[in-house]
Amino acid sequence: MSAQSGRRTEPARPVGIRFDGLHAHLPDWAGLDDLLFRKLQSHGDFDKWRQAILGLPAPPASSNSFEDTVTVSAELAPSETKRLRDALQALHPWRKGPFSLLGVRIDSEWRSDIKWARIAPHLDLEGLRVLDVGCGNGYYGWRMLGAGAALVIGIDPSVLYCMQHQAINRLIGDDRNQVLPLALETLPEALSAGRFDAVFSMGVVYHRRDPLGHLRRVAQCLVPGGTAVIESLCAEGPQTLIPDGRYARMRNVWQVPAQRQLAHWMADSGFEDIRIVDTTVTSTAEQRTTEWMRFESLAEALDPTDSTRTVEGYPAPRRCLLIARGPGGRLVGSGGPATSCGASPPAEAVLRLGLRPTGGDPRPSCRFRSL
Ligand SMILES: C[S@@+](CC[C@H](N)C(=O)[O-])C[C@H]1O[C@@H](n2cnc3c(N)ncnc32)[C@H](O)[C@@H]1O
Repeated sequence: MSAQSGRRTEPARPVGIRFDGLHAHLPDWAGLDDLLFRKLQSHGDFDKWRQAILGLPAPPASSNSFEDTVTVSAELAPSETKRLRDALQALHPWRKGPFSLLGVRIDSEWRSDIKWARIAPHLDLEGLRVLDVGCGNGYYGWRMLGAGAALVIGIDPSVLYCMQHQAINRLIGDDRNQVLPLALETLPEALSAGRFDAVFSMGVVYHRRDPLGHLRRVAQCLVPGGTAVIESLCAEGPQTLIPDGRYARMRNVWQVPAQRQLAHWMADSGFEDIRIVDTTVTSTAEQRTTEWMRFESLAEALDPTDSTRTVEGYPAPRRCLLIARGPGGRLVGSGGPATSCGASPPAEAVLRLGLRPTGGDPRPSCRFRSL
């Protein structure tokens, strides 16, 4: 507030950074601008990254495709290609991708397309509004749009990932996929409660000291009966792993839940129809060092004499994918082989906790709900 006028001071608007699309799709979120710009500007490298974005060549007429490699196709002059490559390299490290932007291929640390291929068959996102919690640079948001989502709001506290998205979206130019520099805990409840048809939280719950609180907040963001997609590191067998120090060289892994533990956390958080649809041991083909992520990666986190163990002696990373229905109402947006309308998922892929949709037809519904 300005002491003299009593009016709210306008936030500084750094040139080159835009959240206009957010205002167009969710007008009541316009009041977040102050918080978003302050968060970005609080990072010591913000201006360096912003200069890189301002150094991007002007995008020529192009076409986009949101498939395994998120692609913007157009011809650039060789000097412009170098300029583009240098600007994007200034936003190193690139953890999520791959992207192909006007001829520059970003081979990110993670082949995120491999994870998406495990998820996509279980969902029908047509026409849905999605919240992606811990969205990284927004790679999955493009895939969600490619799968028919109407709008994807990604949130991630990493300023760099938000800046990577700003760079990508200067080239793609599609404001239906937003990345905001926010943690779930800082997203105001008044703006988010009951607003999304589907909420994703992938790779986040084991980073949270209060996983139940995180899952409850995910549930709260859903429309009644909306779909939650929870992806996590998970321990093999019935025991949750609580690392003593680092896990696979990561500092902030508080616990690696047993699958059943994660499903119980979700049930305690109000989710219903909880299904484990995939479990996969992470391979060094999916997560590796590349020229776009030059630091150490999974290979260096594994015991060189036994790749089934981490360097700390724990079981090597494996990840599980759970899909569930939020509290109340009918299922929204979960389809595909495991849950197609009226069909029961394969028994071996399902962990039922004795929960059933409340009232009405007990089968999953194929109807969609929009806000
Ligand atoms: C392991 S990465 C997973 C990224 C992506 N969802 C995926 O599955 O590939 C975890 C991400 O969650 C973000 N994150 C950590 N704590 C968070 C929180 N409280 N709210 C939202 N995002 C968070 C991190 O910044 C990071 O980008």
